Amino acid sequence: MIARSPLYDEYQAGHVMIGPSLLAADFRYLAREIERLEAAGARFLHLDIMDGHFVPNLSFGIPIVQAVRRATPLILDVHLMISNPEAHIERFREAGADYLTVHIEVAPDPRPLFEMIHRTGACAGVSLNPPTPVETVIPYLNNCELVLVMSVMPGFGGQSFRPEVLPKIRRLRQLAPEGLMISVDGGVNGQTIGQCAEAGATMFIVGTGLLGHDNYSQRYRELAALVKNHQSKAVV
Ligand code: DX5
Ligand code: ZN
Repeated sequence: MIARSPLYDEYQAGHVMIGPSLLAADFRYLAREIERLEAAGARFLHLDIMDGHFVPNLSFGIPIVQAVRRATPLILDVHLMISNPEAHIERFREAGADYLTVHIEVAPDPRPLFEMIHRTGACAGVSLNPPTPVETVIPYLNNCELVLVMSVMPGFGGQSFRPEVLPKIRRLRQLAPEGLMISVDGGVNGQTIGQCAEAGATMFIVGTGLLGHDNYSQRYRELAALVKNHQSKAVV
């Protein structure tokens, strides 16, 4: 970790780091959705940016990040599933992103992008898709604040968790320098979050597994309890 990392600070303070993915929100009532997630206890929000090129889907862009920023003081964790992140990093930061995560598949040496992100004052993350070996990101663990392990092929919410990524989380946990957050994204729900915690993940991105339920507060509490139970079993 080379920048000050608010997500790590929250984690260190003992908070369970469940990040609701706004992709699963009802966009008719975005401000209300955010209020409900804040009330449920969320410490940060995860925002999925898709370009229809790196992934076969489009989601939302700068105006929505700006709107979310205006709606909440929560930490904004922006996941760039885009082919040319260098062209957009500064504008996402200006829009209110606190963390900007780029994919190793589009930036085999992500250090120049991390530098660009750090220059804007944001924290930097690197993500890897399920087929991408963990070795691709290992050389860069000292240069960023977050590693985002995809547990589905990116592009769509509501897919099934791929348990074959768990060994990547275990390996990252063994190698992670102090302060690096290990996030898992895709198919994380009541059935799978415990395995992720046990493997050593420190952040849990949850879309349909939280926003697909009526009572966010109750669901958040249940997920947080599962994380706590399983974190105590983590072999680290
Ligand atoms: C997938 C996105 C995820 C997605 C997770 O491409 O990166 O953040 O919103 O959604 P669920 O939790 O429904 O799999
Ligand atoms: Zn995501």
